[in-house]
Amino acid sequence: MLVLTDRCPAKINLTLRVGAARDDGYHELESVVAWLNFADQIRITQRDDTAVLLHCDDPRVPTDDGNLVMRVVRRLQPRRLSDFGIDIHLDKRIPPGTGLGGGSSNAATALRMLNLLWQTRLGRDEQLDLAASLGSDIPLFLHGPLTVIRGRGEDVEEFDADWDVWVVLVLPQLHCETRAVYAAFDELPPPPPRPLVPAITAARNARGLMPLLFNDLEEAALRVVPALADVTDRARSALGRDTRLTGSGSGLFHLYDDRSEAEQRAVLARERCLGCDVITTRLALDDE
Ligand code: C5P
Repeated sequence: MLVLTDRCPAKINLTLRVGAARDDGYHELESVVAWLNFADQIRITQRDDTAVLLHCDDPRVPTDDGNLVMRVVRRLQPRRLSDFGIDIHLDKRIPPGTGLGGGSSNAATALRMLNLLWQTRLGRDEQLDLAASLGSDIPLFLHGPLTVIRGRGEDVEEFDADWDVWVVLVLPQLHCETRAVYAAFDELPPPPPRPLVPAITAARNARGLMPLLFNDLEEAALRVVPALADVTDRARSALGRDTRLTGSGSGLFHLYDDRSEAEQRAVLARERCLGCDVITTRLALDDE
């Protein structure tokens, strides 16, 4: 029986600069994004009939057309040359609503896998267009582990850095709705001037990176989910005061050069941030 598996890495936004709202409701953004060694997995198995079914081990994740993976399926189905059915099994590790891009990463991986499996023959540009039409964070997962994204997320530039960096994630059981956070951003004064992208990509390690990192949605996320303030204080007391939010939240992260420091900080975070998942991982490198 045919079985295909692939990984869907999580991402963090090292920086997230947000501009004014555009006429189409989206915001111009500029963000340095890094994949993590923390990932979901997709397993695809062939069926005897022509049905396509999504299964997920996390009951919080929809398995109908509310899931981006099924939206990829719907777009590819009419174009497939091989019309055999499949079961798609999603093994979730990346909690939804935490700004780690889990759903977007699932969609990008499903797109790559199904394009091969069903011989839908989408070229590179068609894959990127389809990805962008389904979500702002999907195209970056069709590129490499380090990117700068611009526009509403569809303009993706890869870059290299040999960052040997440990990451501690504090993931509260709080769901930040992206649309609501951007709407709250519009009600706030414009953010201050921020470090420029070349300064960030030129940083050599976690110690150099941390003071340069920022997220223009932090204040807005706190407005939308006030309970995030207490978790942020606790996470900062454990991880370091420059702990950052990823995406529109609710996940928080800090970077370390030293593995044992990361592990010690994670122990502290587990004590102080009750009810949060605390994960120690690394920035993904190109050859992983
Ligand atoms: O593209 P995606 O579906 O992930 O975006 C979810 C919501 O986040 C959008 O409907 C929009 O309100 C907001 N958003 C935005 N500007 C971006 C990306 C997302 O305003 N660049």
